[in-house]
Amino acid sequence: MKTCAKLLVHHTRKMPSVKTVRSASSSLWMSSLRHLVVLSSLCLLITGYSERDRTRELMSKYPVVDGHNDLALQLRILHNNQLSQIDLHNISNVATDINRLQAGHVQAQMFSVYVLCGAQEKDAVRLTLEQIDVVRRMCTEYRDFELVTSAKELNISEIRHKIACLISIEGGHSIDSSLPALRMFYQLGVRSMALTHNCNTPWAESSSKLYNVYQRQNNSLTHFGKAVVEEMNRLGMIVDLSHSSWDTAWAVLNHSKAPVIFSHSSSYSICSHSRNVPDWLLNELKRNRGLIMVNLHNNFISCKDKANISNVADHFDHIKKVIGAESIGIGGDFDGALSFPQGLEDVSKYPALIQELLHRNWTENELADVLRRNFLRVFEEVERVRDVLHSNHPSEVQIPVEEVQNPCRLVLRPPSKRKERPFNQSPSSRAQFGPPCLLIWPMVLLLSIIFSIE
Ligand SMILES: *[C@@H]1O[C@H](CO)[C@@H](O)[C@H](O)[C@H]1NC(C)=O
Ligand SMILES: *[C@@H]1O[C@H](CO)[C@@H](O)[C@H](O)[C@H]1NC(C)=O
Ligand SMILES: *[C@@H]1O[C@H](CO)[C@@H](O)[C@H](O)[C@H]1NC(C)=O
Ligand SMILES: *[C@@H]1O[C@H](CO)[C@@H](O)[C@H](O)[C@H]1NC(C)=O
Ligand SMILES: *[C@@H]1O[C@H](CO)[C@@H](O)[C@H](O)[C@H]1NC(C)=O
Ligand SMILES: [Zn+2]
Repeated sequence: MKTCAKLLVHHTRKMPSVKTVRSASSSLWMSSLRHLVVLSSLCLLITGYSERDRTRELMSKYPVVDGHNDLALQLRILHNNQLSQIDLHNISNVATDINRLQAGHVQAQMFSVYVLCGAQEKDAVRLTLEQIDVVRRMCTEYRDFELVTSAKELNISEIRHKIACLISIEGGHSIDSSLPALRMFYQLGVRSMALTHNCNTPWAESSSKLYNVYQRQNNSLTHFGKAVVEEMNRLGMIVDLSHSSWDTAWAVLNHSKAPVIFSHSSSYSICSHSRNVPDWLLNELKRNRGLIMVNLHNNFISCKDKANISNVADHFDHIKKVIGAESIGIGGDFDGALSFPQGLEDVSKYPALIQELLHRNWTENELADVLRRNFLRVFEEVERVRDVLHSNHPSEVQIPVEEVQNPCRLVLRPPSKRKERPFNQSPSSRAQFGPPCLLIWPMVLLLSIIFSIE
């Protein structure tokens, strides 16, 4: 770019002045002018390319760590998790596959093992296990992928030219209000959990009011909710506040010993959707040294059904203005939402976004942070807190039974001596055989299909 400008200036100086031209032949003037035109078009061409090259070069050096992707949900919906039926290099009707991750310079992907809110109080734990299974299979059966469970492994996988897979739970309903279940998910490789999806849990509040479950007065994070956050800190699991209500997010920010993330949320000031984060909460996040990974879904970007790259860049600009580039990441939400901005339709399109931010005078240092260094820093700090807490024992806090009015929950007890009354009136055994579960199913399934995805 600079060389081009110099060349142009030089050439213009060399052009004959009007005075000298008066006597000289006009053909010299014309030929000079032609040279100038050719030179400037060449420069335009070169700068056009070099801007793209600059993006590619930056992204090769600092490839994307993406905070949220719902490919696993699509694998279930479209293929019933039968990996043998598809080639993960090239999958139709989704926005994510190996070819496009590589084209988009995505080096690490947090894969959500989301299960519908309708599974709360039912088989959320089984479904979550099955989603973990499919992500683990995907990431071990394909050589381009590598399952990672630490910041260091993530970093090393880049040198090994692998796409690192991280597993994240989306919605506390997946642990069925059980810290032992949370710990076992950690053992299976889960390194992050969003406290809610679109439904409240018995211990944390959702940003959404779609599901009329576990409504509480002024108690956005219960005593048990705090125990969940503490146990996640102790384990070294990243707390994800996307989908949580602002009150819950604030309570967690007050309570967490480790930095937290919003894995796929954008700016409320730019688009006033309850899934986005207002500036006051961004400031709390900054105090926590946490990270907001910008969601690309049209409805959260423009608050409309349509959006473009420029609208997305507005979110980045605004959040940078409020809390700085060191607090920003990228959480595309591909395959979890229906509509994405023009030019950012799938995971291969990330370079277009980075090029736009370079246009807007983001420095390469800032973008290296946004692309991956911020996430690595947060992940490392979460691990450091885990190391500091290593002498703490696993928490034995249990949720009070009256806080989980759940007809499908069996309270494990020795078989009753009064064998003649197998259907005694304890809530658990009623649920085991009774109709409440069965009746709720079709309704919940219907609701889930309508509201589930984003
Ligand atoms: C992906 O598969 C489709 C057919 O399912 C084919 O048309 C397309 O060329 C393939 N793309 C790549 C990049 O292999
Ligand atoms: C990742 O690796 C780079 C060198 O490749 C190193 O500079 C950086 O400190 C590492 N970061 C982490 C989190 O391990
Ligand atoms: C929350 O609500 C309870 C009653 O539901 C009340 O006793 C308590 O004072 C309230 N706390 C705050 C901080 O408003
Ligand atoms: C967070 O902490 C601040 C300062 O200690 C306090 O004023 C605020 O009420 C707390 N918010 C929540 C939701 O706990
Ligand atoms: C993007 O969309 C906005 C409307 O939200 C429009 O004003 C702007 O011109 C568009 N930008 C581009 C580059 O298309
Ligand atoms: Zn989501």
